[in-house]
Amino acid sequence: MSWLSRIFRKLRKEWMIRHYRRLFSKQTEPIRLNIGCGTDYKEGWINIDNNSDHNITRLDLNWDLRHYLPFPNDSVDFIFNEHFLEHLTVEQGKNAIREFLRVLKPGGVLRIAMPDLDKTVAEYYNVDWKNTPVIKNFGLDFIQTRAERINISFRWWGHQWLYNYEELERRIREAVPGVTVIQCELRKSEHPDLRNLETRDESTLIAEVIKYYPKNF
Ligand SMILES: C[S@@+](CC[C@H](N)C(=O)[O-])C[C@H]1O[C@@H](n2cnc3c(N)ncnc32)[C@H](O)[C@@H]1O
Repeated sequence: MSWLSRIFRKLRKEWMIRHYRRLFSKQTEPIRLNIGCGTDYKEGWINIDNNSDHNITRLDLNWDLRHYLPFPNDSVDFIFNEHFLEHLTVEQGKNAIREFLRVLKPGGVLRIAMPDLDKTVAEYYNVDWKNTPVIKNFGLDFIQTRAERINISFRWWGHQWLYNYEELERRIREAVPGVTVIQCELRKSEHPDLRNLETRDESTLIAEVIKYYPKNF
């Protein structure tokens, strides 16, 4: 990257952060980010995606989430993402988690929803694997063998890394040591803003991460 584009990127970052600081200072409602929103536009949230599939008609911010988030430190109340993190490599995912925790206010909560690798592996051994909801609901009836089924889970849809709870908690703690991580049930949360957000029944792995500051962050 040339020195000119480095300066341009730095100025753009500073400009955007200043822009959102001004915008957020006028907002009375909680500030909530829907990360990797796809076509799931949530009213009252800032819906962010890079529209890589060119199928999104409504978006608040077209942004590549492998890079920094253009928001100030400690400025956001809630962050939600569903079926997003598994589309990043481990390192990109950890950087994204670090950014989420940077922009969250102390006491703010990140909710991550994704497919559970343990369920995928269990389906591999299920004698009735051809009649599982994922095969039926996603038009995957053409799959002939368990091996084809599990390879598709790992490789299709741009998947880079699949998680079970153990792996997700480990990567979150590697990204930001000392945070509180809680495993949750589909559409259930202690935080009203984070209830009933998942649009997919196959979001079988859900965790919430709470930012405490400065004691253990
Ligand atoms: C499987 S879709 C999930 C969409 C939505 N959250 C849902 O559950 O229906 C994954 C989304 O992540 C977005 N995405 C993947 N990598 C991204 C990146 N680097 N930056 C921004 N968005 C990205 C894709 O564009 C896509 O819309």
